[in-house]
Order: sequence, then C-alpha cells, then structure tokens
Amino acid sequence: MGAIGIFDSGYGGLTILKSIIQELPEYDYIYLGDNARTPYGTRSFDVVYEYTLEAVKKLFELDCELIILACNTASAKALRTIQNKDLPFLAPKKRVLGVIRPTVEALSKYTRNNHIGVLATPGTIKSKSYILEIDKLYDGKSLSVSQHSCPMWVPLVENNEINNEGANFFITKDLDNLLIKDKDIDTVLLACTHYPLLINQIKENLPKDVLIIEQGEIVAKSLKDYLSRHTEIDELCNKEGSRKFYTTEIASDFEKKASRFLNQKLKAEHIQL
Ligand code: DGL
Repeated sequence: MGAIGIFDSGYGGLTILKSIIQELPEYDYIYLGDNARTPYGTRSFDVVYEYTLEAVKKLFELDCELIILACNTASAKALRTIQNKDLPFLAPKKRVLGVIRPTVEALSKYTRNNHIGVLATPGTIKSKSYILEIDKLYDGKSLSVSQHSCPMWVPLVENNEINNEGANFFITKDLDNLLIKDKDIDTVLLACTHYPLLINQIKENLPKDVLIIEQGEIVAKSLKDYLSRHTEIDELCNKEGSRKFYTTEIASDFEKKASRFLNQKLKAEHIQL
C-alpha cells in the first residue's frame, strides 16, 4: 500500500494537486517538485526523459503506487517511454499517468466554434503532442488548433515575478502572438501546469468572450474515473489523507511559496534525485 505521487518540474503541479485533493481528499499524496532543475520546458527530449525517470524512481522508492506526471513537458517527452520501456522492469504493478490525454479528451466540451489556442512550454509545443493527440481523438472533426510557446512564463512563476510589470509584458506579448495566429480562437488551453498561477494577468489580457481552460479539474475528474475503473490500483492506494512534499531545492523556500499557491501551511523536505 502507498500514496499517489504527483510530480512536476517545480511549483506548477500544485495547481493539479489542489484540484485532485478537492476531488479525492481521502487519499495519501506525495508531491515532488524538481525545483533545482526547473524549467524543463526548454530542455531536450533526452534530458527531460532522464530527469523524469529519476523522479519516478524516487517516488516509487517512497512507496507510491500510482504517479501522475503533473507536468505537460514531462508527459509530452517522457511518459510513453516510461510506460512502455521502463515500467515493465521497474514496477510492473504500478502505474504512471500523464495530463495530456485527459485534457484532450475534455477539450471539445468547451469550444463553441472549434477554434482552439494551446499555450505551453517550448518543449511541449515542439513535441506536437497536443496536435497528435487531438488528431487521434477528433479524427474527422474540424478542430482548428493554433499553438504558441511561452518560454518566459515558467521562470516568472518559479522566480516569484508573477505580480511585476515584467510579467505583464511577456504575458501580453505571448497572448497577442497566439491571437495573431487565429483571430477566431474562442478557447485557450493552458497546457502547462504553471500557467494557472498567472491566471489573473492572463484573464486581463484576453478578450472577455474567450474561454480559458485550466487542467486541474479535468485531471482530477479523470483520476477519479481511472481509480473507479481500476480497482486493483485503487486498492493499493492508502486513504488516510496524508500529504508529503519534497523538493530538490531548499525546503524552506518551497514551503513559503507552495503554502501561498495552495493557500495552506505545509512542511517540505529536501530530496536528492
Ligand atoms: N509545469 C510544467 C508543464 O506543465 C512546466 C515545465 C517547465 O519546467 O518548463 O509543462
């Protein structure tokens, strides 16, 4: 028996953890943020895979039975290889899931005119994971998808620059550049788990009728559904409501920022990957 592990390159996965806790409060959770090596979004396929695999191994050592890669970049660049190549040797009875597939499954519920904008890290955009997954799931449906990468947004969050003027400069620039690609976009997907931490500035700079999709609730509902369908995994997950937080950076810094993002006090421990 063990916990559900939630992994992200830094603080972004907290936006997913928050929704998961709201939906499934009874489970035990272990959060791991690789803050020392964030951002992942500008790193190569091989490096993101290597870092993500290290985190997965660590979360298994901490007795996690199920791991959610609460990071689009890691889901785009490492998930399939870990599921297909590593998991059968590492821990065949355990599971690693990502955030891209459940997000794409939910996508068509939101758009009214089928014009969707996807904002993500350069790594996620270059991988074309969203485009490929959308093509697979909505074959024959005429969804028009425009992508744009925002390389500065994760560093703004990680370095606590969210409320400064500099943040607004980059947010406006990137949103304008997305809308230039397709002026009819009616739905913007925040396909990076850090971006909801910039939601106020994003809302201010998008036309009022554009719908903004955050992944937290989507991933939480999809996890609930997964656990109800996979009772063999669900039975392995402890349900004592415990929460543990690990960071590869300084624990006290993580505690301060993560408490603010989650709106609750928390204790974190430093961990080496
Ligand atoms: N939260 C990660 C994501 O969803 C950000 C990755 C990064 O570290 O650049 O892609």
